[in-house]
Amino acid sequence: MYKKFANRAKEIISEMTLKEKIGQLNQITVTPYMNDVEKLRNMIREGQVGSIILASTATAGNDQQGRIDIDMYNELQKIAVEESRMGIPMLYGRDVIHGHRVVYPLPLASASAFNDELVEKCYRNIAEEAAADGVRWTFSPMLDLCHDPRWGRIVEGPGEDPYVGAQMARACIRGFQGDNLTDKKSIVACAKHYLGYGFSEGGRDYFRTEISDITLQNYVLPAFRAAVDEGVATVMSSFNDINGIPVSGSKKYLTDILRSQLRFNGFVVSDWGAVQMLIHHGYAEDRKDCAKKAIEAGLDLDMCVRCYIENLEMLVNDGEVSIENIDTAVERILCVKLAMGLFDRPYGEKFDYDKEKHLKDARELAAESMVLLKNNGVLPLNKEANIALMGPFTHERRSLLGTWTLDGSESETPNFYEALKNALTNGKLFCTDTSRTYDNSSEISSRADIIILALGESHWTTGERHSVSDISLSKDQIELVNKMHATDKKVVGVFFCGRPMALEGVVENLDAVLYAWHSGSETANAACDILFGDTVPSGKTPVTFPRRSTHIPLYYNTTSSGQPVNGYYGQNPQWNYTDSMASPLYPFGYGLSYTKFEYKNLSADKELISLDSLKLGGKINVSVDVSNIGEYDGKEVVQLYIRDKVASIIRPIRELKGYKKVFLKLGETQTVHFELSYKDLGFYNENGEYLVEKGVFEIYVGENCLTKNIITVKVN
Ligand code: BGC
Repeated sequence: MYKKFANRAKEIISEMTLKEKIGQLNQITVTPYMNDVEKLRNMIREGQVGSIILASTATAGNDQQGRIDIDMYNELQKIAVEESRMGIPMLYGRDVIHGHRVVYPLPLASASAFNDELVEKCYRNIAEEAAADGVRWTFSPMLDLCHDPRWGRIVEGPGEDPYVGAQMARACIRGFQGDNLTDKKSIVACAKHYLGYGFSEGGRDYFRTEISDITLQNYVLPAFRAAVDEGVATVMSSFNDINGIPVSGSKKYLTDILRSQLRFNGFVVSDWGAVQMLIHHGYAEDRKDCAKKAIEAGLDLDMCVRCYIENLEMLVNDGEVSIENIDTAVERILCVKLAMGLFDRPYGEKFDYDKEKHLKDARELAAESMVLLKNNGVLPLNKEANIALMGPFTHERRSLLGTWTLDGSESETPNFYEALKNALTNGKLFCTDTSRTYDNSSEISSRADIIILALGESHWTTGERHSVSDISLSKDQIELVNKMHATDKKVVGVFFCGRPMALEGVVENLDAVLYAWHSGSETANAACDILFGDTVPSGKTPVTFPRRSTHIPLYYNTTSSGQPVNGYYGQNPQWNYTDSMASPLYPFGYGLSYTKFEYKNLSADKELISLDSLKLGGKINVSVDVSNIGEYDGKEVVQLYIRDKVASIIRPIRELKGYKKVFLKLGETQTVHFELSYKDLGFYNENGEYLVEKGVFEIYVGENCLTKNIITVKVN
C-alpha cells in the first residue's frame, strides 16, 4: 500500500543530502524551543525536522498539554515547504486517543460495546475533529493486551482477548484513516505499543516482560496483524524489553516479525525517548550506540530525543551504519507522507463539523459500553422516583473523560448530578454536600425512594505511570456502601472507572451495579439513559473482573493444566486457593440486560470437514436461534468460542472467534450465523507459521465465555 509510492520517494531521496535524510528521521516537540523560536525555524529551514509531536511532555496522557494552535503549525510548515531546500512537509502528530474535542469512552470501555461499526463511526468523528485542528497523525490505537488490571494503561487497550484486540484495531484504523488517507477528514493511525508492553511484570509501568514465542504469536501479535492488514500507516515501538531484548533495538521484533512476517510497509516511530532508553536498559553504551542499534533494528523515526540527528551522520561517515539503512528509513517515511497527500496539502485547514452529531454518537457508544453487572429488579428506575445521590463521583467531571484527554473540555462535561437532575421528570433529587464525609447521608437517604451511589476511581489512578497495587474500591467508598446497605432503601451503585475493579464484598451490598467506566463527554447522560431504561444495557466485559486484587492474573483464554484444577476460571474455583473463592466475580463477555435472551438450536452445517477442504476455503457454518423472551426490546452480544481439544501445542480452554451484536424486539427470534474457516481454527508456532491440526473442535455460542451451549465438529 505504501510501497507504491516508493519510486517517487526514491526520486526525492536521490536529491537529498545525508543531513537532510537524517532530518526526516527526527521528530521533535516544540516546547523546548519556545524561548528561541528562531532556532526552531532554522532547524526546519535546514531540513532537520521530519515530524513534530504536538505534546509538551513525555507523559501527555496525564500531564497538562499545550493547546492546539493551527496558525503556528502552518507558519512553521510554510518554512518547511517554502524555505527548506527539499520542501518536504513535516508530519504533525498528537495523541488523539479516544476523542478530540468530543471525548468517547476509553478504549477498554469502547471494547465493551462489542459494536465494531459504532466504534468505527465514532473514530471517524474523532479523525474529523482532529483534522479540523491541523492534526494529521494520531498515536492510536493502543493494542496492548493485558492480564494485569493493576497496570494503569490497561484502560487504553482492548482488554484480554486477541480477537477483540483485532476487531478494535480494525475498527479504529478504519475510522481514523477512512477509505482514503488523502481525504481531509482522515488522519494517519499508529498501532502501538509494538510489542508486549501490556505484559509488564506486576503491572508496573515500563517494566520487563517475559513472553514466550507461542504467546507472542498467538496472543500479543494478532491485534497488530489485523492493524497491518487494515493498512495502518505507522507502528510505534515500545519501551519494554521482551526476554531481555528491548523492542526498540531489536531486529527480531522490528524487522523479522514486523516486516517479514506481518508484511508491514509503513514506518516505525519510537515511543517517546525509547531510542535513548536503550542505555538505561543496559543494551547500548551511549546515545551513538542507541542510534546505531535502533536504526539497524528497523526503527525509522526517533521521537524527541535527538539520538538520530546527533549521531547518524557520524555513524554513516565512519562506515558504522550503511547509507542504505538510512535511505530505507527515509523512504518509508516519505511513502507515508506521499500516501496521505501531505505534499499536496501540507497545511492544516480549519473546517466545520457537526459537533451535536458527534455528541450524540458519543452518548450512544458510552451507553453501549456500560455493563450492567447486577440487577435485583431495581433497574430501570422510574423518572418520578425520589432519589438520594451520593458518593465521590456525584459532582466529578474530569475523571469521566478518562486519561489521555488532551483537548476535551472538563467544563462542558455534565456531571452525574446534573445529568440525573435533567433526566428526572417529577422525581426529586437529594444530594449530599461535596465533601467525602457523607455526614448527612442518613438524613438524605431517608427522604428518598432509592439511593444511587456514584462510585469508582479517579482518572489519576489510570494511564501511563499510574499503576496501582490494589484494584479494590477505596475504604471510604466501601463504608458508604455498607452504611447505605444498612438502610431500608434499595441501593444502586454506578461505577466510574478505567479498569475492572475487584468488587468482592461490595456488589453483595448493592441491589444493582452499573459499570459506567470513564466513558467520555457523555458519560453521565449515558449512565442516566441506562438507569431510566431509555437505553437497554448491552455492554459486556472485555476483560475478567477478579474478586480480589490477589487473584490477578485471571483471564479466560488460559490453557488447561494437567491436574483437574483446569476449570479454575469457573468450574473448580475452590481448588485454587485455600483461603478464597478464585473464580472471576464476572467472567469475560459478561453483562446483563433488562430483557432476557434465550439460545436454542445451536448447530453446524457439518460434523466433519477435511483439512484440505478448509485450506481451499471450506467453511463451517454455525447458527443459533436467539430469542428475546423478556419485557424490553434489546441488544445482545452473541459470542462464539472454540476449543481445539487436542493439539501439538495446548490451546486455550476457550477462544473467542466471533461476536455479533443483534437487536431483538421483545418476542422476536433471530437466527444468528457465524462462519468458521481455516483462519479461525489454527494457531501459530514459535516461528510464526500458521497451522491447523486435525481433531475435534468444540464450538460454544452464548451469552459469555462460560456458556454451556456446545456442539463439536471434527477436522480430518
Ligand atoms: C506514550 C505513548 C505516547 C507518546 C507520545 C509516550 O510516553 O507511551 O503512548 O503516544 O508518549 O505522547
